[in-house]
Amino acid sequence: MKIFVAKDYAEVSALAYGVIKDVVLQESSPVLGLATGSTPLGLYALMAEDCAKKNVSYKNTRTANLDEYVGLAPSHPQSYRYFMEHNLFEHIDLPKESAYLPNGSAQNLEEECRRYDALLEQMPRDVQLLGIGNNGHIAFNEPGTPFDCGTHIVRLDASTIEANARFFDSVNEVPRRAITMGIRGIMSAKKILLVATGTKKALAVARALQGEVDESCPASVLQRHQDVVVILDKDASAKLRF
Ligand code: GLP
Repeated sequence: MKIFVAKDYAEVSALAYGVIKDVVLQESSPVLGLATGSTPLGLYALMAEDCAKKNVSYKNTRTANLDEYVGLAPSHPQSYRYFMEHNLFEHIDLPKESAYLPNGSAQNLEEECRRYDALLEQMPRDVQLLGIGNNGHIAFNEPGTPFDCGTHIVRLDASTIEANARFFDSVNEVPRRAITMGIRGIMSAKKILLVATGTKKALAVARALQGEVDESCPASVLQRHQDVVVILDKDASAKLRF
């Protein structure tokens, strides 16, 4: 595991973009695992900027996102599909049909989980981008999720609902359930890129990277992956022992 501590958010985003850009330039048909949340926004802005300058093209790239809220239509401003369209897909030359997300509005959610797992098997990700929840979750794999679990429907932790309420008009509007790539799917990526910033993440980051590997901290499973790059700002690294 390689850990970089950047001086600020701009440097976190630039370092993360370096990792993504290398993959996209090196692979003939790159597959990117993408994430939502506020942490990757700077990275997505750099991807868009560099693509506009024609330094990088995503014409041969495919993407697979981690998760989606259950019950929010793709047009809902807080759906992860909408987030990805507005913060990244509209600004790069990725073909529309090459961007995959689990469908949280599917009539049969169990079937949708199986469909997404089958899709992931057909498109092994060259790199999987991850943020981390304050409680150590990755994607929406909440504490206690078995490490061998595939795509599944999850009931969100009270702490996750509270943390994500900032994006909604009120906490009552935050969906209670989500569909998420499982830890097995995340771990199947060739490379993992974890980004985290801010004091609120410091404890989760320390548990994930230097604590016991235990299902009570889903991100701790990353210690078992052979190619992980972690990019933190100073605040998020504050509880690590160097
Ligand atoms: C959500 C997402 C996670 C993300 C986390 C942290 O719960 N499901 O994939 O890592 O939020 O988000 P932020 O980057 O806004 O702190």
